[in-house]
Amino acid sequence: MDIIYSALVFLHMIGLAGILAGFLMQVMTGNAKSPKVLLHSSLLQLVTGLLLVGLAETADLGDLNHVKVGVKLLVTVAVVVVGVLNLRRPARNLAVTAGVLAVLNIGVAVFW
Ligand code: HEM
Repeated sequence: MDIIYSALVFLHMIGLAGILAGFLMQVMTGNAKSPKVLLHSSLLQLVTGLLLVGLAETADLGDLNHVKVGVKLLVTVAVVVVGVLNLRRPARNLAVTAGVLAVLNIGVAVFW
């Protein structure tokens, strides 16, 4: 079970890097694929985060702070919504919003 949990944390970190990469790609280069990178990475964050919570609860891998997880979930849903809007009509402000929210979630994960 530990190896699966570690694999999910690994993918969770890839998703985090992907969101920031998509945000920077869009803001710095305007690459047309940036909104897809941003949205797909935010979905990866959502899915791996939920699986991590599910695994931690079912396999009794330690106590999770449910308020913290709830805040992270809300912020991530906001990133996904902004990511969808940004895919429909790419805009610098939307990319920046998604990037800032992702950084906020890193802060919640690390400092809370
Ligand atoms: C933009 C979205 C997200 C970012 C940037 C993010 C960031 C991080 C980071 C940096 C870590 C490693 C640090 C730590 O272990 O405390 C982490 C771990 C974790 N995240 Fe996320 N996260 C996001 C979304 C989510 C979501 C939506 C959930 C669940 C609903 C979630 C649940 C978790 C869990 C369970 C861990 C493992 C904690 C542990 O093993 O101690 N994350 N996240």
